[in-house]
Order: sequence, then C-alpha cells, then structure tokens
Amino acid sequence: MIFANVFMNITLLKHLSISIDGQFLHRRHFLTYLSEDATMSTTNETPVRERKGRRMTRISPDNRFPRFIYGTAWKAENTCRLVGLALDAGFRAIDTANQRKHYFETGVGEALKQKFSEGILRREDLFLQTKFTYPGSQDNRLPYHLDAAPADQVRQSFLSSLEHLEVEYLDSYILHGPSVDRGLTPVDHEVWRTMEELKSEGKTRFLGVSNISLEQLKLLCDGAETLPTFVQNRCFANTGWDRQIRAFCRESGITYQGFSLLTANARELLSREFRKLVQDVGGTISQVVFRFANQIGIIPLTGTTNPDHMREDLAFDTVNLTDADIKNIEGIAEKICSPEK
Ligand SMILES: NC(=O)c1ccc[n+]([C@@H]2O[C@H](COP(=O)([O-])OP(=O)(O)OC[C@H]3O[C@@H](n4cnc5c(N)ncnc54)[C@H](OP(=O)(O)O)[C@@H]3O)[C@@H](O)[C@H]2O)c1
Repeated sequence: MIFANVFMNITLLKHLSISIDGQFLHRRHFLTYLSEDATMSTTNETPVRERKGRRMTRISPDNRFPRFIYGTAWKAENTCRLVGLALDAGFRAIDTANQRKHYFETGVGEALKQKFSEGILRREDLFLQTKFTYPGSQDNRLPYHLDAAPADQVRQSFLSSLEHLEVEYLDSYILHGPSVDRGLTPVDHEVWRTMEELKSEGKTRFLGVSNISLEQLKLLCDGAETLPTFVQNRCFANTGWDRQIRAFCRESGITYQGFSLLTANARELLSREFRKLVQDVGGTISQVVFRFANQIGIIPLTGTTNPDHMREDLAFDTVNLTDADIKNIEGIAEKICSPEK
C-alpha cells in the first residue's frame, strides 16, 4: 500500500511548485503518545548563536524541540479535520505556511481553537511553526501588500499568521526559501533582519530557513545576528540524506528538519536492500525511515492523511537501529542496484 501511495505522491509532487516549495499500536505507546510531551524532547544545546561577540547563548532550560512534526501542505479544506486527527493521534508540533497556494493556515487555526475550547490542549503544549513566503512562490492570495517593502511584507505576513492561527506567538518562524536559486540578495538579508527583530520582540521563539543550499546557508549565517535554529529541507537519500548541509548544521548548532523523507526516496525505499533491512529490524518502511532520521538528529515531518499512518509513524521508536543499520541506510542510494519489479 505504501508503495502505491509513495508513487501517487511523487506524481502529485511533480504538479506542485516544489522548488520552494497496519500495524497494531501497543497500548504502552498509545498512552505515551497521548501524553502532552510525547513529541517533544528537551534540548540542552539551544543553537542560537548571537553574532555579537560570537558567543553561544542558550534559551531557557524548559526549551523543547519536537521529535516529529505534522505537516499541513496540500490539505486545503481538509486541513482542520486532518490537523484535529493528527492532534488526537498525539502530534504536538504543526508545520504550516502563510502561502495559500499550498497551505490553509486558517484551517490549522480552526483545529487548534476546537482543541483549546474542548480543554484537551493548551497553547503551551504545542510547537507551532509557520513560514514567510516571497511573492514569487505565492498565488494571488497574498498575506501582504505586493508593493510593500520586504520588511513590511514580513511583518504583515507574520501578523496575518497569528490571526489565522489565533495565537499570540509562534514557536518557529521559517523563511520558506531564499529569493534566488544561487547566492542571497540584499532583500534576503533584510527579510532575515526583520525576522530577527520578531524574535527579539518575543513574537517567535525560534527562526529557521527552508529550501536552502549549503552555499546560501553559509552566506545567511555570515550575515546574521542570530543564526537559524532550524533548517528545513527536502531530504534525498541520494545526497546521503543532505549530508553536507546536515554536517554544517551540526557544526553550527542548527537542527535539521527533513521533509519528503518517503516521497523523495521511492527508488531507495523500494529497493531489495532496504526491504531486507526493514524485515530484519522490524516495523514498517516509514517507521524505519523516521527512526533513522531521529537517530541521526533529523526532526522528520510527515503530512500523512491517514490516521493509521499517523499512529504508526508516531510509534517509530518501536524500531531500534544499530550503528551498522544506520550506516547501511546512510549509504543506501549507492548500494542499490535497481528496484525490484
Ligand atoms: N518547506 C517546504 O518547502 C516544504 C515542502 C514540502 C513539504 N513541506 C512540509 O512537510 C510536510 C510533509 O510533506 P512530505 O513531502 O514529507 O510528504 P507528505 O505530504 O507527508 O506525503 C507522504 C505520502 O506518503 C504516503 N504514506 C504512505 N504510508 C505512509 C506512512 N506510514 N506515513 C506517512 N506517509 C505515508 C502518504 O499517504 P497517506 O496520506 O495515505 O498516508 C502521502 O501520500 C508538508 O505537509 C509540509 O508541512 C515543506
């Protein structure tokens, strides 16, 4: 079933502007994931390096990063229902964007409102992440004035996100992607400075950047007062799962979020080698992929629309990978010959 879904999704992704953008759950895990901290992990190494004096600063010790993020792209009018199901399943971190073309922030806000009013969740139980998207990656439903200065566009988009989500602050605010494919422009630096201001004003706890190359990430970090806390990229097995960027992130104290872990890697995941590994370690293909991501320090995203998949994915830590398994998966793209017919 997963194979059909993966292929279907790849077909779907081809039609999207991607440049920027049954397994029974053991009772113990079900209960674990219902607990409010289930998808959060505490980090002692908050990676916000202030440029002034180049010192490492740490945010409060109660600082929590999610272990797994539920993504809300391409859900349109089903967004509210699916976010509700994801929260019921145990997800506590939600990724969205103020980019009406691919996301419906208001639908996320409606789901949150329902859960808050039912007394099931409080704002502080959740990790909410959204994005600023340049006009070139939007349709005509812009969350800012087209003729406003970039800094004003960021502030207008940010305020509109708070209104859509009906919250007073964000956990993470992401630049959806640089304005150009190579290098950075003065506008990118201006946008980042405005995002830094939002962070200093306490309106977002963290900043991040998405769809970024190594060269661009280095330029951003060189020009930044505050480094990104997160990089969110499409994670291809055939680049060693974004090996170079992950290495730079590790050195710089940045946490890597990976999306399309399943859909970008059909060839590798369908290979005889990978399936053999899954058979040996147990669990499902997606659990092995998400567990692999988790064990190498990636925060995975999933946008599954299926409640069984939601619960299955959340139970990824029923799988344990040895160092040899990790090495094997890291190099899977080079190892495989051809997918089995
Ligand atoms: N920053 C960016 O530019 C950017 C770009 C793309 C995505 N994202 C974020 O990342 C999120 C996730 O997107 P994605 O590209 O990773 O793909 P996705 O939207 O999560 O798609 C996963 C596909 O795999 C299928 N699938 C089958 N078994 C599954 C299982 N056990 N668990 C999960 N999926 C399973 C799903 O089908 P079923 O629905 O039937 O499970 C779906 O078709 C997005 O919603 C968005 O928030 C960000």
